[in-house]
Amino acid sequence: MKALKSNSLKPNYHFFPITGWMNDPNGLIYWKGKYHMFYQYNPKKPKWGNIHWGHAVSDDLVHWKHLPIALYPKNETHSAFSGSAVEKDGRMILVYTYYRDPQYNIGEKEIQCIAASNDGINFKEYEKNPVIASPPEDGIYAFRDPKVRRSTDGRWEMVLGSGKDGIGRVLLYRSSDLINWRYEKTLFEYEQAKECECPDLVTMNGKDVLIFSGYTPEVLGSFYSLGKIEEGRLVEERSGMLDWGYDYYAAQTFFGTNRTIVIAWMQNWLQSDSSSTQKEGWNGMMALPRELYIANNVLKVKPVKELEALRSGALITERELTGKGSFDLEVEKNSYEVSYKSHGGFDLKLYNTENESVEITLNGNLLEVNTKNSGIVEGAKRRLNINERREENHLRVFVDSSSIEIFLNESVALSFRVYPRYVYNQLEFDGGTISILSAYTLKNIWL
Ligand code: FRU
Repeated sequence: MKALKSNSLKPNYHFFPITGWMNDPNGLIYWKGKYHMFYQYNPKKPKWGNIHWGHAVSDDLVHWKHLPIALYPKNETHSAFSGSAVEKDGRMILVYTYYRDPQYNIGEKEIQCIAASNDGINFKEYEKNPVIASPPEDGIYAFRDPKVRRSTDGRWEMVLGSGKDGIGRVLLYRSSDLINWRYEKTLFEYEQAKECECPDLVTMNGKDVLIFSGYTPEVLGSFYSLGKIEEGRLVEERSGMLDWGYDYYAAQTFFGTNRTIVIAWMQNWLQSDSSSTQKEGWNGMMALPRELYIANNVLKVKPVKELEALRSGALITERELTGKGSFDLEVEKNSYEVSYKSHGGFDLKLYNTENESVEITLNGNLLEVNTKNSGIVEGAKRRLNINERREENHLRVFVDSSSIEIFLNESVALSFRVYPRYVYNQLEFDGGTISILSAYTLKNIWL
């Protein structure tokens, strides 16, 4: 048994704001050979409010460099809400919601604006903002979070979140110049939530995939609806969650990449304010960049390949195992990846001798993750029916300070924030006849 090692909550290899509050990723764009990420940011305190657009850049989606704040609200009761980025005539254009009065959450209090940059660092707001001054009758509530892409006819297409009469809606707009926008139609309605936040529309393998976030009576998170747009409406064929864990919100994809790369805020609105990281002066982290793809008409997710560059040493060199067993992990920190392949079902547990644990079980088609006793904040138990039964199952688990991201078969993902007092330095497995285990120490990108 390994001695207890205290755990720091600050991420080693996930993006986080160092100080202050962060929520949604915004303006994800691959521009002039670099990945830019903006985010909802309160630089003054580790609590939501008076939101600016923070900014960071990366060459490889793994290492991030913080850049100066890109958008400032005009005063303390205003905020620059979520939005997106595109490239037009070599310039980077940000499209975002400006939120003018926190007492209200409807109508003209939320306006859609743009800002432009030549160097990708300094942004100038368009002097004739807003570009959309008020919501259409179809979606008057929570009118925000514009995501823009090029449409097939070479014009610009925007999806906007909203709601009306207790039903979430995604509105579709079109423009030929990013300035004059015409409302087309309600692209999508979602009865389980009163508003659809942070919509995003991507086309893959000839299918249209709408991503959006929201709260239903049972769950909050990032959802998708896959189908085909016909006459401005999405005709759904399949739907589900982009991530089945507890902490995955406001997922957005990059503009300007060939792959569909997605990043989300790895937290949730219900727990954020009580988060213990506030005591350390920061709050909020992003989930790892993932690739979305479609196979057999099913939307799947896997960590981007680039993340393998984080591996800085073998913690457990690949080995074949039978039945049950356990390992002491020679780790100083919660900063590692476990890869586990098994025939049929399995049970894998990461824990410390203070009985803080995360347990992942696959039994038939039922995948269960239990983070209930993962640390000082009570976690959750999540169950998911994986519709696809395989001979061999491949589990990858990314452990980083106060988070766990779980991927099964390059297909489904579950993300959780956890707040362990001590490092999970014990591993226990039960994998039936044969299983193959390896683990890697992951490096700290912030050093
Ligand atoms: C989603 C969201 C967005 C909004 C932003 C405000 O998490 O509520 O709809 O633009 O956060 O910070």
